[in-house]
Amino acid sequence: MLLLKTRNELFDFIQYIHAKKLTLGFVPTMGALHEGHLSLFKKAIEDNQYTIGSIFVNPTQFNNQADLIKYPRTVEADIAKLEIIGCDALYLPSVEDLYPNGLECESIDMNGLDVVMEGAFRPGHFQGMATVVKRLLLQVQPTRAYFGEKDFQQLQIIRQMVKTLQLPVEILGMPIIRESNGLAMSSRNMRLTEEFKKKSLFIYQSLLKAKELSSHYAPENVICKIEKLYLNSDLKLEYFTITEEESLQTTQSFDPSKHYRAFIAVYAGDIRLIDNIQIR
Ligand code: PAF
Repeated sequence: MLLLKTRNELFDFIQYIHAKKLTLGFVPTMGALHEGHLSLFKKAIEDNQYTIGSIFVNPTQFNNQADLIKYPRTVEADIAKLEIIGCDALYLPSVEDLYPNGLECESIDMNGLDVVMEGAFRPGHFQGMATVVKRLLLQVQPTRAYFGEKDFQQLQIIRQMVKTLQLPVEILGMPIIRESNGLAMSSRNMRLTEEFKKKSLFIYQSLLKAKELSSHYAPENVICKIEKLYLNSDLKLEYFTITEEESLQTTQSFDPSKHYRAFIAVYAGDIRLIDNIQIR
């Protein structure tokens, strides 16, 4: 696998891909790769003639500095995993490659998708995320880019941004990969204590419960019943909500012609976990 450590090295690789008119799949990541990331790489490898990943722990999307410092950095192990699955190239940009004028965020219109859920609880997070994803897409110029549905709100914001900016790339969302016990895979899981790892199974169980309830009850009542379940839990519920999938707006009733998702954020000790499920 080619290791591209600067923007110039990336540029040479892209020139080659374009000269040969080859398709390029791209998986942007912040590293600490797990099976969820690898499923994106495997799909990219299947769909495209060449596949490139990136690892960059993006400072502007962390609204909590402690989280940025504690974010797991496992580059050597990540490289080994990508080599095994047959990824062609990995871009490891420096801060200067992506933020040549300092760590400022661009003002990117997200059509209101950024003010709810994660946007409400993590101010500035999506502007930082969208800034870096836009710059990565412009530098890498992939045919297709792959993102996990675990960060469903992020995925919808990226789709919106690509549409607004008319970036010539196809965005693909891939299903959440779960541990055998149901916990959604996340780089943060490695920071959970054994006790909270077990307790966190409740997150997926409560999402499955919400899916079951949503065939009998209105969204508001489903939300109320799920919130009640967390009153007696060691997990601290930050939010549980149900939205229409495209607009991410909450709803009073279910329209059979639309799709809906339940979204949740909880604290397991001091680790913040998010998850979601399509309920209708
Ligand atoms: O999902 C992530 O890992 C990050 O938000 C991303 C898309 C790589 C941007 O930094």
